[in-house]
Amino acid sequence: MEHNKKQDYSVTKADRVKINAHKPCLIWFTGLSGAGKSTIANLLEQELHKKGIHTYSLDGDNLRRGLNKDLKFTKEDRFENLRRTAEVAKLFIDAGLVVIAAFITPYNKIREDIKAIVGSEFYVEVFVNTPIEVCEERDVKGLYKKARSGKIKNFTGITSPFEIPENATIEIKTTIESEHEAVNKILTVLETKL
Ligand code: ADX
Repeated sequence: MEHNKKQDYSVTKADRVKINAHKPCLIWFTGLSGAGKSTIANLLEQELHKKGIHTYSLDGDNLRRGLNKDLKFTKEDRFENLRRTAEVAKLFIDAGLVVIAAFITPYNKIREDIKAIVGSEFYVEVFVNTPIEVCEERDVKGLYKKARSGKIKNFTGITSPFEIPENATIEIKTTIESEHEAVNKILTVLETKL
């Protein structure tokens, strides 16, 4: 039951798009911890920024320090983490921005939910495909070691699942593609969208 009446705004998304001279969208990076999502997302934002595109980044590690700091890594908490983030992304899309999000996003169901929340025409999914052995070998944050020794519960790829994305718009294989190649691939897709 909806109890609140929706308020209408006089300045619309279309008005904001006209001022920005580009359309908004959401580029959602999914992949294991340590796959390289944030690195590629960061480089992509720099390139878009150089082109005068209005961007904003949402990163799992950062949102979990604020908006989502009450959430852990159970399946339910991950769904809530990503639902809230998708709702925030939807607001930023409405504000006319190109939103870049980097979250593990381990389930196909939640990827579909995110697409439904923001609208499929605004959603670009990038699967950063790095084998778990490589992520574990890199272990930039030392989390795989902790997960193996039982210090971290529900760790993605070890004690919690990661479902291979079924409908990714773009797949990046970081073992054979450089960060710059990855960003160029994404920019090519964005050219037709923005
Ligand atoms: S998601 O599954 O809900 O999409 P999210 O991207 O927000 O995850 O957070 C993942 C980050 O949290 C990882 O990059 C890692 O730094 C940290 N982390 C801490 N505990 C876990 C865990 N149990 N599983 C995965 N990542 C974890």
